[in-house]
Amino acid sequence: MKIAVLNGSPKGELSFTLQYVQYIKQFHPEHEWVILDVAKKIKKLERRDTEFQAVIEEIKSADGVLWSFGLYVLCVPSQYMRFIELISEKKVRDAFKGKYTGIISSSIHYYDHTAHQYLRAECEDLEMKFIDGISVYLNDYRLKEIRHLLRIFMENFLNSIENQETTTKLYSPLQFSDFNYKPSTPNQRIDKTDKKIVVLTDEYNPSSNLGKMISRFNESFSNDIEIIDLNTIEIKGGCLGCMRCGYDYNCVYKDEFKDVYNNRIKTADIIIFAGTMKGRYLSAKWKQFYDRSFFWNHTPSLAGKQIGYLISGPLSQNQNLIEILEASATTRQDANFAGMITDEIADSKVLDEQLYSFARQILYFSERDYIRPQNFLGVGGHKVFRDEIWGPIRMIWQADHRYFRKHGKYDFPQTRYFIRIGNFFILLLCKIPRFRKKFYNNLKSMPANRMKNSLDKAALKEIRAAKAS
Ligand SMILES: Cc1cc2nc3c(=O)[nH]c(=O)nc-3n(C[C@H](O)[C@H](O)[C@H](O)COP(=O)(O)O)c2cc1C
Repeated sequence: MKIAVLNGSPKGELSFTLQYVQYIKQFHPEHEWVILDVAKKIKKLERRDTEFQAVIEEIKSADGVLWSFGLYVLCVPSQYMRFIELISEKKVRDAFKGKYTGIISSSIHYYDHTAHQYLRAECEDLEMKFIDGISVYLNDYRLKEIRHLLRIFMENFLNSIENQETTTKLYSPLQFSDFNYKPSTPNQRIDKTDKKIVVLTDEYNPSSNLGKMISRFNESFSNDIEIIDLNTIEIKGGCLGCMRCGYDYNCVYKDEFKDVYNNRIKTADIIIFAGTMKGRYLSAKWKQFYDRSFFWNHTPSLAGKQIGYLISGPLSQNQNLIEILEASATTRQDANFAGMITDEIADSKVLDEQLYSFARQILYFSERDYIRPQNFLGVGGHKVFRDEIWGPIRMIWQADHRYFRKHGKYDFPQTRYFIRIGNFFILLLCKIPRFRKKFYNNLKSMPANRMKNSLDKAALKEIRAAKAS
């Protein structure tokens, strides 16, 4: 059989993930393996049709397609996403139809599930037969158990193709609507005071729904807000994964990206990301923005800001993208996820009102420095970053380490001495049956009563203080 490996790492043959593929491939010399560096060569594939067609010919003649990538900013690298876009743009979807497929990725397990869900959904949209996906930690190659699991993954992948197994689908096709938004002129406007509001978009086209949503949002304010079109900024390419920025946030690219990010985006109080859904994500251009912003490493460069979204497309059918966008504001940035407006309502009047209310609310949040406490996406994500930056990846991400130390992000439970002492005594005392019985009997009422007393006292004080001011 022939297996085509689509290497999604911009590092090409130096990809970590590809080393895992090279490892498992050694157990199956009876098959033909073709490695296609589609991310590293993306510019060539975009420009030269013959190069692109050569890749497609390899896919057509393959029995199975293995997607291999290292995770970049909660999803696949922008160059890989661009390759996926090209499949539709160059009208070669048929080459993928009916092919057996699987996914292998490496990462630090930070939102690897969203990357896998994205790619699996894309495969299903291409009518491929999805067998399995495996996500390994980047340094797991030393572990015998993981190498064993990788071999099983591959054996099952190959057996499934050989036996022409029946596969399942997890995602329904997206239904795009042809609603044409016709905004009206607002009859009242909001004073944005001294707040700086920036809308960042990859498509400021006055005749598209997204363009009209941006304009209507802008018109909600009595004073103009800044609109930045990513297409007007010189961006020489996607993140190369070189990690040079790890020392001091300096990117190897010499283009306008860093300046625009630091001086026009990072200086805003409210940032609106505006994009149109393309398949299971926004455009690859948007992904390029996210990947290139990684010159700030794992440091939340937009901490304390309000981040909201204007999205054209069926976002409610794409829970995975909702999660990615929410996490991009919260766990990635320590910002407030201020909401999302889409054109799915398909009613111009209601959309007008939604945009106006959104503008009012986001300003209200900003004026009060409202940053909602993190939910699981943020709390869990933080712990992954904290442990990684403190430990195995600190030597690369040195700027992050300095930031984490300075901003109290190394909040390991080991340093909470009061809790540790409490745990020690309670665990010891619980060995006594009478104490244990009383302790667990009281568990229902005692913590709630303690909370009530404390909150009642706080409320009394705060109401008094509010009245006094
Ligand atoms: C720009 C960039 C972004 C990254 N984003 C993530 C991420 O969101 N989640 C994660 O778990 N790992 C992330 N990583 C770590 C990579 O996924 C990891 O190093 C991977 O092994 C790289 O694979 P590759 O060498 O095949 O490209 C990121 C690394 C880089 C350089």
